Amino acid sequence: MKFIKPYLFAVTTLLAVSCTSQKETASLKDAYKNDFYIGTALSADQIEVKKVKEDSLIRKEFNAITAENIMKSMYTHPEKDKYDFALSDKFVAYGEKNKMFIHGHTLIWHSQLAPWMEKIADSTEMKAFMQDHINTIVSKYKGKINSWDVVNEALNEDGTLRQSVFLKTLGEKYLVDAFKLAAKADPKAELYYNDYNIEEPAKRVGAIALIKKIKAEGGKVDGVGIQGHWRLNSPSIEEIEKSILEYSALGVKVAFTELDITVLPNPWDLKGAEISQKFEGSAKMNPYPKALPDSIQNKLAERYASIFKLFLKHKDKISRVTFWGVHDGQSWLNDWPIKGRTNYPLPFDKDLRHKKAYDSLLKLKETKE
Ligand code: XIL
Repeated sequence: MKFIKPYLFAVTTLLAVSCTSQKETASLKDAYKNDFYIGTALSADQIEVKKVKEDSLIRKEFNAITAENIMKSMYTHPEKDKYDFALSDKFVAYGEKNKMFIHGHTLIWHSQLAPWMEKIADSTEMKAFMQDHINTIVSKYKGKINSWDVVNEALNEDGTLRQSVFLKTLGEKYLVDAFKLAAKADPKAELYYNDYNIEEPAKRVGAIALIKKIKAEGGKVDGVGIQGHWRLNSPSIEEIEKSILEYSALGVKVAFTELDITVLPNPWDLKGAEISQKFEGSAKMNPYPKALPDSIQNKLAERYASIFKLFLKHKDKISRVTFWGVHDGQSWLNDWPIKGRTNYPLPFDKDLRHKKAYDSLLKLKETKE
């Protein structure tokens, strides 16, 4: 007895210590290292390492990065003859230093364009713009940026082509042109078509036709990026699974590029991520200004677990899963589609603590292997 007591004490202490330290040292990127990259979207402050605690969390948990805003054309190409690469250089250096997979977002997109680009009115000018824009940016980061969203959000909800400034000036040809220009500037970079709601049936048909057409016309498309700005109850796991299967049947990789799950009411049952849509706020639309109730916290954890269970089932088809932001405090969903709400869409809360959603993602791997 005399000996057993201290022995038991030592063993339980050791167990307790090793359990805590396992929790402390476990990370998403390690848990999923044999499956797909686990990415995050970085704000300008995060790229510039303004907050040390946030930075260690990023380096611990993620092995792929996307710039949330600073590589969009209004920032990189503010005037016709002026590029600004100050922040994108820092972004790329950050990824290289930390040996992360670096994704470029985005080359051709109708939103967050510099004002001068919106005024381009004819095909000659637009052709010259695309050539200069894609060639300059992709060549600059040749061999450094691993993959690109070459075209972002070219489709309407019904699967037809969006009447963007690119379509208006060049017609459908702009799509294959963009992919050809990017492949020429960096033949080894992986080239993606990226969009929201392309797991929905009608838009998916449009995306499949678009990818087939680009390929048929000699463009190189390596992957499709499903943004994944989702809700607690939709889209269904079945539709997501159908999408993974149908896209990978085209011979392209599937990435989930901007994953977040809103827990707030959506005006008019809004789906998607059209960033120009804005609505008035009200208390009813912002039900959890102080904290997320346990019941919803649990729902979020279950939703993330079922989504990742599906991702693991199809890990051979999935290249990367990127969350749209590091923590809840940073999420664009606090301001879109209604300004000034408090949303909880990510695995980390605003104080950088891991939520039940995070634990459920790690648990999925513990029970699986
Ligand atoms: C969002 C950013 O998160 C916001 O900070 C910004 O104000 C608007 O754009 N689809 C995309 C992303 O491809 O670039 C968008 O990011 C979200 C929707």
